[in-house]
Amino acid sequence: MDLQFKRHRRLRQSAGMRALVRETHLHTEDFIYPLFVAEGENIKNEVPSMPGVYNLSLDRLKEEMDEVVSLGIKSVILFGVPKEKDAVGTGAYHNHGIVQQATRYIKGQYPEVVVIADTCLCEYTDHGHCGVVEGDKVLNDPSLDLLAKTAVSQAEAGADIIAPSNMMDGFVAAIRQGLDEAGYTDVPIMSYAVKYSSAFYGPFRDAADSTPQFGDRKSYQMDPANRLEALREAQSDMEEGADFLIVKPSLSYLDIIRDVRNEFNAPVVAYNVSGEYSMVKAAALNGWIDEKAIVMEKLLSMKRAGADLIITYFAKDAARWLSE
Ligand code: PBG
Repeated sequence: MDLQFKRHRRLRQSAGMRALVRETHLHTEDFIYPLFVAEGENIKNEVPSMPGVYNLSLDRLKEEMDEVVSLGIKSVILFGVPKEKDAVGTGAYHNHGIVQQATRYIKGQYPEVVVIADTCLCEYTDHGHCGVVEGDKVLNDPSLDLLAKTAVSQAEAGADIIAPSNMMDGFVAAIRQGLDEAGYTDVPIMSYAVKYSSAFYGPFRDAADSTPQFGDRKSYQMDPANRLEALREAQSDMEEGADFLIVKPSLSYLDIIRDVRNEFNAPVVAYNVSGEYSMVKAAALNGWIDEKAIVMEKLLSMKRAGADLIITYFAKDAARWLSE
């Protein structure tokens, strides 16, 4: 036989050999776990479209945090579910807003956990948009003051990282300035730099009761058809002072994660969003897929694409599987 060819299978022949040449690894420290903190008492309501994910009141947070910490997860991102909403999202920047209260609680009880506060108005506005509205328009510049105020109140409560997800232009500049002027020069900004207008956020909006009451978010979130625009968004956020860059959603946007990784030297965060979670859970509950294998393959693909960190509702499951 005088065939000339390469024997790639040499490096695949045993588990030990495969482990030696594995290029990408998942670690529990890579995961950021999202929590929906709800105003009220004794609330632990499962989100119907997100099995295993709950709205939790402060008095029920302990059980969840104990589990998170015991699994080795180092960081959580907080979303608020307030009782009252109004036109200007007062609950977002109120001193005793639910995210501020939850932050104080977690930093008090679990000081080593990195608390990330999502900074947006949509969970707190009665119209469900991420900024203030006039008629059917979402206003950019008047929203910036409120977002900066929200970030400062979150930093005051002890948040370690501010994560603005609202997609107003200039939000990083406004928040950086607000934080600096209030003395929080050391609080980093994890910017949702590249956030597409995506149908994959549907279950989150059930969880946070934040579906827009009119129109959609297409005038501020990005068009899924665009790739170069992602680089423009990330670039302006870097110039304005972002410390981390989020790409969201993740699975239909692995090309964008790779582009952002190649272009910028900041840590890149993939947001494995609610719809991506629900689809896997639904299939798993039907017995149609091997959930563990599918989830780990998906998370690995985000890191292979270039993500350093992953915000994921699977964080607890994945941490458990990694420790087995
Ligand atoms: C708030 C926000 C959203 C998500 C994170 N922050 C919803 C939205 O933009 O409608 C979505 C997260 C997910 O789907 O898991 N602006």
